[in-house]
Amino acid sequence: MDEKLRFGLIGCGGQGRYLSEALSLTKQADFAACADLDLERAATAAQQCGYRETFGSAAEMLSNTDLDAVIVATIHDQLQPCGLAVVEAGKHLFIEKPMALTAADGQRLVDAARAKNVKVMVGYTLPFLSTRRKLRQLLDEGAVGELAHVFAGQLIGGMGGWLGQPEHGGGPLFYIGTHVLYQVLDVVRRKAERVYAEVTLTDAGVDRECLFTVRFEGGVVAQIATSQRLGGRYGWIDVLGSAGRVRSEWESPDVFVQSTAIPAYRQETLIRVPDESVGPKVALGDKASVTGFKYVRAWAEEFADFLAAIREDRDPAVTGEDGVRVLEITDAVFESGRTGLPVAL
Ligand SMILES: NC(=O)c1ccc[n+]([C@@H]2O[C@H](COP(=O)([O-])OP(=O)(O)OC[C@H]3O[C@@H](n4cnc5c(N)ncnc54)[C@H](O)[C@@H]3O)[C@@H](O)[C@H]2O)c1
Repeated sequence: MDEKLRFGLIGCGGQGRYLSEALSLTKQADFAACADLDLERAATAAQQCGYRETFGSAAEMLSNTDLDAVIVATIHDQLQPCGLAVVEAGKHLFIEKPMALTAADGQRLVDAARAKNVKVMVGYTLPFLSTRRKLRQLLDEGAVGELAHVFAGQLIGGMGGWLGQPEHGGGPLFYIGTHVLYQVLDVVRRKAERVYAEVTLTDAGVDRECLFTVRFEGGVVAQIATSQRLGGRYGWIDVLGSAGRVRSEWESPDVFVQSTAIPAYRQETLIRVPDESVGPKVALGDKASVTGFKYVRAWAEEFADFLAAIREDRDPAVTGEDGVRVLEITDAVFESGRTGLPVAL
């Protein structure tokens, strides 16, 4: 096996530590250093995940440690500035979603990475879940025929802490809506032309719910909902076309299909997909939870792809450009919500 790549981590909260755990499953990483403004969190990550050195800022870590690649998993408004520092230092970057708060800032990051010839992968997890892979396979087999509509959403309960604050990029559109938007773009694979949105805000000024349509080239229309008003969590995608429909829910192991194009699925069929996204249980401290563990295997697959992209000098499965395309739509959703008018892209 090739030599291990030296990794750094910026942002040692819940996700930074889960990602480190997932990265360790690849057995291809050397855990060199981690940084957090909160030094205690950095120390916890070092102790739990094996990072050798700890720092109180991204800048200190980048100028004092030899690294090949860095994971950025900070709060949302810090993702882009930290990511930019990483690529400008010439390191490959795995950055959590939404990568930036605007498409322009996302593009600056992508351009800087291109100039330094380093890889950028954005942490959109859904393509790595077994159920969503099954959905992709059914679409590739022609289950829905000519694509007509996509209905999708991500709904959760009230969001507190930095996730409730506009200056930190809080709100469900950035936090979970970007996951579903990435997936919709990946299903439709056409140019988005127009967005129309209804957006309501919390008293603090972050989005409470966003209900919006995205019209794509050729007349495919997606209708998407994000909200923080649900007592629980619900995420789904329905893909419909001339030959039938396919549906997957985030938390369910079942994929639903009905298709006149595939004889086995002429009748409505529920396919149970073995949950390969469940990872081994490893203690990560107070923030560890069953839900967190559930995706460790999927995150490990993200990293396997990121590492392969670096070694093979190819694009990762989810690129910085993909991240920018998502942000072009979130920009338009917020603008349409403010003005009450559709936004042409
Ligand atoms: N892909 C997924 O399924 C998934 C799941 C959960 C969270 N996330 C993403 O992970 C990221 C982090 O979320 P979290 O739940 O771990 O948040 P968190 O609040 O638990 O942790 C964020 C950490 O970043 C640190 N930080 C803030 N600014 C910093 C800076 N400038 N330099 C260094 N450290 C800084 C904070 O001190 C904190 O420790 C977010 O982008 C979130 O959307 C992704």
